[in-house]
Amino acid sequence: MNKVSDVLIIGGGIVGLALAIELKLRSVKVTVLSRDFQEAATHAAAGMLAPQAEKIPPSPMLDLCLQSRAIYPDWIGKLEEITGLETGYWSCGILAPVYHAGENLLTNQFWLNQSEIQQHQPGLSSEVVGGWWYPDDGQVDNRALAHCLWMAAQQLGIEVLEGVAVTDFVRESQRIKYVKTTGGEWQAERYVLATGAWSQDLLPIAVYPKKGQMLSVRSLSSPQPLKQVLFGDETYIVPRKDGRIVIGATSENVGFTPDNTAAGIQQLLNGATRLYPPLKNLPILEFWWGFRPATPDELPILGTSAYENLTLATGHYRNGILLAPITALLIADLLEKQNANPLLSHFHYSRFTEN
Ligand code: GLY
Repeated sequence: MNKVSDVLIIGGGIVGLALAIELKLRSVKVTVLSRDFQEAATHAAAGMLAPQAEKIPPSPMLDLCLQSRAIYPDWIGKLEEITGLETGYWSCGILAPVYHAGENLLTNQFWLNQSEIQQHQPGLSSEVVGGWWYPDDGQVDNRALAHCLWMAAQQLGIEVLEGVAVTDFVRESQRIKYVKTTGGEWQAERYVLATGAWSQDLLPIAVYPKKGQMLSVRSLSSPQPLKQVLFGDETYIVPRKDGRIVIGATSENVGFTPDNTAAGIQQLLNGATRLYPPLKNLPILEFWWGFRPATPDELPILGTSAYENLTLATGHYRNGILLAPITALLIADLLEKQNANPLLSHFHYSRFTEN
C-alpha cells in the first residue's frame, strides 16, 4: 500500500493539476494519479475564455465563470513565474458576428453594425450583418497551459503519477478507505475525483462524454490578420499569436467513439470558411478530437460527495479551461478550511439524485 498523507487527486487534466498546485502552495501534501495526460479534454480544447460569447445566462454559473475569468491573469502570472514558461494567455476579446438581424439587434454598447464589424475585423463574410463584441473574453493556448501546469507541478515537487488508472474505490461505511489502481493501492486522508468525461468509470455520477472535433490551419501572413476570437453560429475560430488558427468544434453524443470523421471536418470547414472566407486558402495543420465532460444541465459538479472524504471536481463541459482557477480555489478552500463558498451549493452532485 502506497500512503500519501493529505490529498490524492484522481485525474491529471487541467482541473486536477490546478487544484494540486493550489494545495501545494498552501503546504498540503498532494499526489495526482493521471491515467493519460494527453487524452484529457484539456489538450483537445480551443482555450477560449468565453463566458459572454458562450451566452451563459445570468446565474450562479455565470458568476462562477466571471470570477474565474477575473482571476485568470494572476493565476497565469503565478504559473509563468514558477516555470518560466509562456501559456499564450491573450485577453484579445471575442467577436460574435451574426448573419440575421433579430432580437439581438438592440442598442447596446457592444453591438457593432455591419460597417463597424467589417472595420473591426476585415475579411468577414459579406453575409454578416453585425455582431457582438465581448472585450473582456479572451483565450489561452490550452496545450501550452497544460505543459506549464505539468512543469509547475514538477517544480513544486508534487508527485504526479502518469499512466496510473484508478480502477476502484474501496469503501468502509461512508468513507473511501483506499483506491485500487493499475499501479497498486493508494491511500490518503482525502480524495478528489477530477476525471472529467471518464468519471462514470469510478462513480455512478451524471457525467458523460460529448465529443468535439477540431482542426487547425496556419496563417500565411505575419502578424496574422485575425486579432480576436470569432465566435459564430456553430463555429469558432481562435487565432494564436504564433500564426496557428484553431477551428472548432462539433458537439456529438457518440460516447467515446474516437477519430475525426469526414462529416465532422466538413461541418467545421463549412462553418468557418463561411464566417471568415480568407481561411479557404490556408494550409491545414492538424485534425483532432476530444471528449467534453458533459452533465445533464451542462453545469459542473463541485463539492462534497456521498463519501465523507471524497470531493468532486468534474463535469466542466465546455468551460474546463475557463473554470480551472476558480475550481482550484474553491475546492482547495473546501478541503483545507472546510470553508464552502456559497456558490458551490449550486453545483452539488445531489441535484441529480434528489427528487
Ligand atoms: N468551449 C468550447 C467547446 O467546448 O467547444
